[in-house]
Amino acid sequence: SKKFLVDVDCGVDDAQAIMMALAAPNVNLLGITCVHGNTTVENVCKNVLRVLQNCNKLETPVFKGAAKPILGSNIDAGSFHGEDGLGDFPDPNAPSLDLIQKEGAVPAMIRIVNENPGEIYLVATAPLTNLALAVRMDPSLPSKLKGLYIMGGNTESRGNTTVCSEFNFAADPEAAYIVLNDYQCPTYLACWEFTCYNKLSWEFCDAWLAQNTDKARFMAQIFRHSIEASKSERFQKEFVDGSGFISCDSYAMAAAIDDSFITESDHYPVSVELAGMHTRGMMIVDTIGFLKKTHKAFIMKKVDMEKFKQMMMAALK
Ligand code: BDR
Ligand code: CA
Repeated sequence: SKKFLVDVDCGVDDAQAIMMALAAPNVNLLGITCVHGNTTVENVCKNVLRVLQNCNKLETPVFKGAAKPILGSNIDAGSFHGEDGLGDFPDPNAPSLDLIQKEGAVPAMIRIVNENPGEIYLVATAPLTNLALAVRMDPSLPSKLKGLYIMGGNTESRGNTTVCSEFNFAADPEAAYIVLNDYQCPTYLACWEFTCYNKLSWEFCDAWLAQNTDKARFMAQIFRHSIEASKSERFQKEFVDGSGFISCDSYAMAAAIDDSFITESDHYPVSVELAGMHTRGMMIVDTIGFLKKTHKAFIMKKVDMEKFKQMMMAALK
């Protein structure tokens, strides 16, 4: 089976991605590292434990990581994911934060990769602060990864957080820069516009949630807030047109789970704009070779949506 390490800022689509990994028969999830992003890192830890509890997988080690980006202050995404990051649905049985490992996320990431050289699939669905700190502590880390799968960045300068930038990159542009420039390993990007072009229809979502399982009932609770947000006028901008749900993080996870999920990708050097009047946090794609970089990332263009739906369905079985 494939050895996975997953770095999240557990909002609703992170939860969906985690549940997809837990359901995949070929995945051995060695740990989940938490980082600030959609909500505080404390809420992220709590949300991950709630997801694991609902999947009867509380034995999965959970590590707490960076509380803030490398520079600047946090951007939260409460208006979409709910103030607690998981739909603001009360959970009186939420597991205690005592279950979080004593070891921090960054040392844990370094340890786990070094214990399994060449074997770890690192899936990052959050601001890249933990990954950036880890490579600064251990520059050999990227060369020991099997693959890096990131939800983040954008290809058409259509932002969802600033005019030109996607949330995970906007929430820590320096970290995104470090990761795209220093992780010279096979890298696969599920960028914002790509996820918008591959929405799940509301009909699919209804059928998905109608599965008569505890996992589906849990998902229906945490999902309600972002369904309403997705359908509201405020979130309907061009191709985010309210015609379906965008489970952004699940595309990065699906690519890591199934090697045949990506059917077409671009292969270019990428980086991140750190300055600019409107462009800080925007991903840049070097189609000509101006950056003189040798490392190229795979940018997802087309994926097998039937396989995606099957993996999503299995996540709630
Ligand atoms: C990304 O931002 C977060 O709100 C989502 O969880 C996803 O990782 C989409 O831009
Ligand atoms: Ca996320």
